[in-house]
Amino acid sequence: MRDYEPYFTEDGSIGLYSYADKDVYHSKFGALTEAWEKFVIPSGVEDFIKNKKDLKVLDICYGIGYNTKALMSFIINKNKIKRKNFFQRIFSKVHNIVSIHTNNTDKKNENLSPYNESIYPDNNPHIFIDCLDINEELVKISPLFRTVKTPNEIYSEIVPEIFDCMGIYYTLQKKFANFASRFSPKNRREIKELLDLKFKVMYLDKEYRINGLVNYILLNALSSKYQKEYLDENIKKILKEKKNRKFFDKSLIKYARFNQKWGYNSSSTGILSAFLHNIYYLHLSRRYKNIDFKNAQSLFKLNFYVNDARKSILQLNSQYDLIYLDAFTYTKAPQLWTTEFIAELYKRISPSGVLLTYSNSVLVRNTLLENNFYVGKIYNTKTKKYIGTIASKDKSKIKYPLSAYELGLCATKAGIPYHDPNLCFSNREIIDFREYEFRHSTLMSSSKYLKLRTLRRDDDV
Ligand SMILES: C[S@@+](CC[C@H](N)C(=O)[O-])C[C@H]1O[C@@H](n2cnc3c(N)ncnc32)[C@H](O)[C@@H]1O
Repeated sequence: MRDYEPYFTEDGSIGLYSYADKDVYHSKFGALTEAWEKFVIPSGVEDFIKNKKDLKVLDICYGIGYNTKALMSFIINKNKIKRKNFFQRIFSKVHNIVSIHTNNTDKKNENLSPYNESIYPDNNPHIFIDCLDINEELVKISPLFRTVKTPNEIYSEIVPEIFDCMGIYYTLQKKFANFASRFSPKNRREIKELLDLKFKVMYLDKEYRINGLVNYILLNALSSKYQKEYLDENIKKILKEKKNRKFFDKSLIKYARFNQKWGYNSSSTGILSAFLHNIYYLHLSRRYKNIDFKNAQSLFKLNFYVNDARKSILQLNSQYDLIYLDAFTYTKAPQLWTTEFIAELYKRISPSGVLLTYSNSVLVRNTLLENNFYVGKIYNTKTKKYIGTIASKDKSKIKYPLSAYELGLCATKAGIPYHDPNLCFSNREIIDFREYEFRHSTLMSSSKYLKLRTLRRDDDV
């Protein structure tokens, strides 16, 4: 890519390094794992699906879409839109309705999954996701990124069928992993240094994978938004670069081309056969897969707003159940952490909605508090660490509230928020404005607060 360098993160998903920002967009420990652990699992989305019909989501800083993809994958998997049991589930639903009307209760149908009700029979979208990002190229290319699949994984799928002996299997698996490491991504030197990347044999849990349908749904939404300009010159250039090939999914690229009707005038037999196949696939094939796709697609309505999120937010007037705020850190990009921007989010969050961010910073938490949010921490039960911040208008949504000590810290100088009165200041202006306020503030410094706290503790002893 021109301004970005892709790399594999430690869970096998793809991350980006930005030359302009001299920083990474995704955690080296796993871009997809982070999306799951910081944005999907703590959001309580399961309760939303169980309790109500519609879910409105705002993904601020969509980037290459991990948070949206992980959420869609979660919903598709929970709805069990899968090849084999889809018809069976629809039939049992119809059968159930018939039974209710005829008073003919069938014991076999009593044990339906709690999610059965959320396979919406009316074919209308019930999950609305508004995705905001300033970078059109990233948004367009997002569905074309490969869904995680590693050589080790492919190997472990094949080997158990050949060998019935676990010892041999594990020895070979280890050997293969070493062999695969020789073909690990050849990232540029500075990225390696920055990330200290090692090709580890540590890949995503199965449940964290992206369901195969997700990228196709995103691609359809994006290509209908951009139509002819979807695979524009910039995107084509990125896709053609040899060193980028391993990061993109060939079949999705073909599908994107087909959607844009490249295939129609092309004389290449490869493209022509893909084109014919797609006609067959879309109009004639009665394969379950096709039905799965249509059903999954009918659940989602995706909108993409490619602009500064400060402008996009003013165009939106929904009440969101989930807001993901995945902007760069406030020191690099303060404009999406200001009091005024957060106030816009407060106006647009539903009474029981939650806002999630990876940031643990005192400044961010205090900005949320000053905007009347209840604020708490995101706790990772696996690592037993606090990994982000959750905010809501509904106190009951906060499982791990801030402690008295953390609230005290928010009231120090460290918590002084950024301001951007008309949502149009430059980064520099926002930072300078705060520095001025900081210098003239009479609040206690965070270092003094920490010192006093330690002294008080010593006194207690
Ligand atoms: C840390 S990355 C987000 C990663 C993303 N969630 C993903 O899954 O790939 C930050 C993103 O913020 C976007 N961004 C930066 N400034 C922005 C602004 N003012 N408005 C909207 N998006 C912005 C960048 O283009 C980048 O994609």
